[in-house]
Amino acid sequence: MYFIANWKMFGDSKTLKSLNNVINFVKKNKNKRFKMIYCPPFTLISSMSAKLAKSAVQVGGQNCHHAKNYGAYTGSVNPKMLKDAGAEYVILGHSENRQNGEDDKLINLKVKNSIDEGLNIIFCIGETLKEKKNKKTFSTLSKQLRIGLNKIKNIKKIIIAYEPVWSIGTGIIPNNDDLFNTISFIKKKIKHQSAKVLYGGSVNNKNINELKKIKNLDGFLIGGASQDTKKLIDIIQKTYN
Ligand code: PGA
Repeated sequence: MYFIANWKMFGDSKTLKSLNNVINFVKKNKNKRFKMIYCPPFTLISSMSAKLAKSAVQVGGQNCHHAKNYGAYTGSVNPKMLKDAGAEYVILGHSENRQNGEDDKLINLKVKNSIDEGLNIIFCIGETLKEKKNKKTFSTLSKQLRIGLNKIKNIKKIIIAYEPVWSIGTGIIPNNDDLFNTISFIKKKIKHQSAKVLYGGSVNNKNINELKKIKNLDGFLIGGASQDTKKLIDIIQKTYN
């Protein structure tokens, strides 16, 4: 199972201290074989990578620029720079960035260039509340997968995170049957037996007891609750209890 922490625009150098608990927890629970990935803001990628260097916890970026090479793009960071800072993953297609104008084609270019640089992709897809109400969930997901992963051959480098937009930060989660069906739909669409599909959206240490019952899930992308180390550890412990 994957447990991916998306810190969004939270965290500073002081916050890194809280990772000591995580490092110890991961060491003690090696036998459980879960994978933990932290995606902090750009400013913390280097220092976090250094701190986690001897642990099994990996680091990822939360987005990147689509350009492969260096260039005059004020405020941006490309996949090469993420890799150089110690990241092994990058979140792409997050709805918070789609809402800021990133479209499927742009995301596809980011996916391609990030894979070329050797990064693994946490590829986010999900429908809005309006799309859900209009019964457009599957057509939205199909389009995001079709264009976003167009001509991507190395599907092994990609972890899909299904994150319904109406679920992110709202405390509302889909019911287990709907979630099971959507995850199966995604797995069928990408036609890759070993593809990993995670769920994200308001995952916390209370609803994990329900979410963990979903048989076809390969893990969770956790926002708000991941900023509190105790909560994150509690989520992992409960998943295995
Ligand atoms: P949330 O965020 O857990 O705070 O809902 C999840 C995400 O946006 O990845």
